[in-house]
Amino acid sequence: MKLWDGRFNKGTSSLTEMFNGSIQFDYKLFDYDIQGSIAHSKMLERIGMLTKEESDTIIKGLEEIKKEYYEGKIEFKIEYEDIHMNVEKILTDKIGELGKKLHTARSRNDQVAVDMKLYFKDNTYKILDKVEELLKTILQMSEENVSTIMPGYTHLQGAQPIRLGFHLMAYFMKFKRDYTRILNCIDGMDELPLGSGALAGTNYDTDREFLKEELDFKSVSLNAMDSVSERDYIIEFQSAISILFMHLSRISEEIIIWNSQEYGFIDIDDAYCTGSSIMPQKKNPDIPELIRGKTGRIYGNLIQILTVLKGLPLAYNKDLQEDKESLFDTVETTLITLEIFNELLKNINFNEEAMFESTKKGYLNSTDLADYLVGKGIGFRDAHKVVGSIVAYGLKESKTLEGIDIEVYKSYCTMFENDLYDFIDMKKTVDNKKSFGSTSEKSLLISIDKCKEWIEKL
Ligand code: ARG
Repeated sequence: MKLWDGRFNKGTSSLTEMFNGSIQFDYKLFDYDIQGSIAHSKMLERIGMLTKEESDTIIKGLEEIKKEYYEGKIEFKIEYEDIHMNVEKILTDKIGELGKKLHTARSRNDQVAVDMKLYFKDNTYKILDKVEELLKTILQMSEENVSTIMPGYTHLQGAQPIRLGFHLMAYFMKFKRDYTRILNCIDGMDELPLGSGALAGTNYDTDREFLKEELDFKSVSLNAMDSVSERDYIIEFQSAISILFMHLSRISEEIIIWNSQEYGFIDIDDAYCTGSSIMPQKKNPDIPELIRGKTGRIYGNLIQILTVLKGLPLAYNKDLQEDKESLFDTVETTLITLEIFNELLKNINFNEEAMFESTKKGYLNSTDLADYLVGKGIGFRDAHKVVGSIVAYGLKESKTLEGIDIEVYKSYCTMFENDLYDFIDMKKTVDNKKSFGSTSEKSLLISIDKCKEWIEKL
């Protein structure tokens, strides 16, 4: 017996039940389905479709179902297809015929739309909390590493010395934008779809404003057909989370590189590494590798939902049931990833010595040397050429810029004087940066302060 089989002469095949059903995964909407039904029941009472006693009995029944579910006493059945019909069936078994009145003035199409939005908002706020924790961790690490000097790279070739705090704050900025992007997803979707019915609205003068207040939405949807067929917010979210994972993947990649024997910039705490079943010496950075890898499925989820929506005529089509597993997967993957990544970061040890030593390889102070000549009145292009020749000399003679004799410098350009050595001192070059937003201590502290102010206001 189905809840909808009035016109059918035959039951569905068990294969159809398996293929068509969503209870296998939409049980995750359970809490929100109950919440939506309680609000709907109160609204029906308000407009006189249910008496106070009837509404109270329904609500009590729904609350009992919730309690029993968490006590493990309730089993959903594929026969009832999805969470909405399972709950309705269990309610009707529990309180009798009255249970059947609950579906007045609604359809599963607006019911699933509201459940999904409630699930979405709840979980998106949880994700935002975790992004905020991550931002706080990075901010603190940056403050602790204002004085740590390391090579900054372009093309993964040593480029110019920077502060580690500056490198970390570059990620802070990326995750800060992620926070705002994810938050904006809520802003765009905060419209109540319940009360839209199947697609055309319902034959009852429902109080959707009341539902909006009960379920804590910002506004009531203006077009029933749109509100049962749109899943824009899921696409926006999958997209925002894809960008978040792109950033998580980039920082993971750096952690993996920094952790290699060749770099030796960091040591990841044993609790966040694994060994090899064959090579006894191994301590592998599996966590950042997995984060990098999981980025693939997050991108996949974005493409999946975009493809499901493409080409759907209005309004509801069963294709829309395919919005769930990918969303649940992205939400769950994001929550666990942010949690472990935050812990991993907190348990990284920086090898400041190795980082600083590395600035001495690869002529990272060459640009400063060119700027030294600019200070003496030489055009930057000419200065660039002179320093290029000196670097070529250094490479041939295996000498750093600091190790080249003043007489040699003078043979390349008479403007060189003894003060050049001070100008190209690795620790000093970082503070020679004068531009706003640079790696100088002054600029870095300003950016940290501004970001602190921003995070305190969240
Ligand atoms: N399980 C369905 C889904 O997830 C609920 C809506 C069903 N609506 C319908 N007209 N068959 O989309």
